[in-house]
Amino acid sequence: MTTISVANQKGGVGKTTTAIQLAYNINQKDNRVLLIDLDSQANASSVFLDASPNSLKTEETVYAILKDKEDPKRIIKKTKWENLYLIPSSLALSEVEPLLTGNVDGFFRLQDSLEDVRSEFDFIIIDNPPNLGMLTLNALLCSDFVVIPLQAAKFSLDGIRTILETIETLNKKFRTKIKILGALMTMYDDRTTISKAMIEEMKKYLPVFDGYISRSVVVEESHLMKEPLSLYAPKSKVALQYQTITEIILNGIQKR
Ligand SMILES: Nc1ncnc2c1ncn2[C@@H]1O[C@H](COP(=O)(O)OP(=O)(O)O)[C@@H](O)[C@H]1O
Ligand SMILES: [Mg+2]
Repeated sequence: MTTISVANQKGGVGKTTTAIQLAYNINQKDNRVLLIDLDSQANASSVFLDASPNSLKTEETVYAILKDKEDPKRIIKKTKWENLYLIPSSLALSEVEPLLTGNVDGFFRLQDSLEDVRSEFDFIIIDNPPNLGMLTLNALLCSDFVVIPLQAAKFSLDGIRTILETIETLNKKFRTKIKILGALMTMYDDRTTISKAMIEEMKKYLPVFDGYISRSVVVEESHLMKEPLSLYAPKSKVALQYQTITEIILNGIQKR
């Protein structure tokens, strides 16, 4: 079982989109996949659930796992795709952060709860909120690998240093072996040269995937239609790019 976190403390860089495509594409390669939505915006949940996540009671979401140590088996939801499961989020999740901060096991609630269900899945993909608070730390501490989506327009060296340092500190303090699989350039604009220059600059600080995700309206449309790109527009450039990235990620994991 392999756990991959999609993380970056900046919002709007393509985390949720990437988590959705990874979960679906990896599932399509004959894997049992669990997607954990750790963002109170619940965008990933709304793509994978028929009903709106707002209609869920907080007891039916990841909130209950983190706050009340609810058994995840009671929270995990089937999606309309076979062997693809979801732990949904809801707006209430934003209230969990202070509760975790005040508890000795606050860093490990997610890890502890997954203990009994890990063996049921080949991959767990975690979509993270746009900060490095307790929720992201919980996710990182149960992750083998991290994928960091980056948007050229929002590139910040300080931002990258912060997340790299956070992972390094966790590995030191908690003796974990969280590995950065790579940074993924998203919303790449093929017409500008800035994006290209950014990739070269970034490579000085962290591994960057050989392959990027272009900017395309198809992404927004697919979210509205509640479908992963490979289903909504299988021949689109972005769908194919996400398939390539999925291959790169799976190969990268095998080599580690
Ligand atoms: N490759 C892309 N091209 C165009 N729009 C995108 C692309 N990736 C994401 N978006 C859009 O940008 C917004 C932010 O993306 P999202 O995946 O939600 O980022 P995050 O989870 O980091 O906040 C969303 O409205 C999404 O539909
Ligand atoms: Mg998001």
